[in-house]
Amino acid sequence: MDDKGLIRSAVNWCTNDYLALGSLPELVNELACKSRLTGISSGGTRNISGTTIYHKELENALAYLHGKEAALLFNGAYQANVTTLQTLGRHLPGLVILSDASNHASIIEGIRTSGAEKKVFAHNDVQQLEELLKALPEGTPRLIVFESVYSMSGTVAPIKEILALAKKYHALTYIDEVHAVGLYGIRGAGKLEELGLSGEVDIINGTLSKAIGIFGGYITATHTLIDFIRSFGSGFIFTTSLPPAICHAATRSIEWIRLHPDYRACFFRKVQCLREALTKRNIYYSGRDSHITRIPIQGAKRCKKIAEALLLEYGIYLQPINYPTVAKGDECLRVIVTPKHSKEHIEHLADSLQNLLYERTEDHRAGIQTLAFADR
Ligand SMILES: Cc1ncc(COP(=O)(O)O)c(C=O)c1O
Repeated sequence: MDDKGLIRSAVNWCTNDYLALGSLPELVNELACKSRLTGISSGGTRNISGTTIYHKELENALAYLHGKEAALLFNGAYQANVTTLQTLGRHLPGLVILSDASNHASIIEGIRTSGAEKKVFAHNDVQQLEELLKALPEGTPRLIVFESVYSMSGTVAPIKEILALAKKYHALTYIDEVHAVGLYGIRGAGKLEELGLSGEVDIINGTLSKAIGIFGGYITATHTLIDFIRSFGSGFIFTTSLPPAICHAATRSIEWIRLHPDYRACFFRKVQCLREALTKRNIYYSGRDSHITRIPIQGAKRCKKIAEALLLEYGIYLQPINYPTVAKGDECLRVIVTPKHSKEHIEHLADSLQNLLYERTEDHRAGIQTLAFADR
C-alpha cells in the first residue's frame, strides 16, 4: 500500500520460497484436501495427542532424504537449532562448541543458552578452526557447528575440509542446510548430498519453509541422537506440533522435488540468466558459489533509499539488508530469482538497478561504477 492508501503490485525479488512451490497448485491442493480431512490444527504437543501418521510419514521421508536413521520435526529450523544445540550443551558435560562467525542467529542463541563453552572461528577459516581444535585439551568433547550455504553472503562452507578436521580431532559435527535443502544434490537433500558426504555429518538441520515451500523445521541424525533430543529438548516437548496437513504437504513437496530435477535445473538457469543480465550492465555482485546473488550497497541509508526507489519507481520489491542482519559495512541487496520470474522480469530488474546504481555519466559509459544515492 502506498502513502495514499492505494494498493499497488510489485514483483518480489527477495523471497526464500526459492522454487515458488508455496503456490504450486498441486501442493496447495494437497494441503487443502488434507486440511478438510484432518482439520487445520494438530491440537496438542507431540507427546499429548499431537503425533499423527502424517508427522511420522514426514519424519521418515526426511530421514530417508538425508540418508540418516531418524528425523525430528520442529515448528521451524530456528526452533530446531536452538533446541538441539541448547540440549546438547546442557547435557554433555564439558562440551566445547566451535562455531563459524557467520552462523545464523538461531545457532548463536542455541549455543548461548546451552551454557557450553563457545569458540568462534572466522567465516570459513579452516586454518583457524584447526588451531582452535588443536589447542583443546585431549579428551574434551567438541562439536563443530556451521552452515552449508550462508544466506546473506551466498558463500558455501568448505564442507570437505571441515569434516576432515572433525575426523582428525574427534569432533561431532552439526550442519545447518536451511538454504540448501530442496535445491542441491540429486534428490534435493542439500550440499552434503551433492558432495556425497551425508554420512559424515552427525546432525543435519533443515527447514520446510524455504525451497520446500511449506512450513516447519527438523533435524536428522542417528536413532540415539534423535531420541536424546526428543527426550530432553524443551523446544520440542513443550509446544504444539505442526498441523497434520502441513506435514502431509511437506512430504508431498519433498517427493515432488525429487521427481522434478528439471525444475531445479530451470531454477539454476534463471540464476545464471540474472547474473548475465547484471554482468552485461557492469553491476557487481558476489555469492557466485550458490543461488544467492548479493549486490553490495555500502551505507545503510543508501541501501534503504535504493530499495525504496526500486519499489516506488519500478515496482520491484527488494528488501534492503542492513545491520543487524549483516555487519555494518556489509549492507546489500540480496536478489533471489525463482522459476516464476520471466526473462522480461530479469531484464526489468537489471535495467532498474542500472538506472539507480549508476549516474548517467561518462564514467558509466567507461564501465566505472559511479554510485548514486551516496550517504551524505
Ligand atoms: C541459516 C538459517 N538457519 C535457520 C533459519 C530458521 O529457519 P526457519 O524459518 O525454518 O525457522 C534461517 C532462517 O532464515 C536461516 O537463514
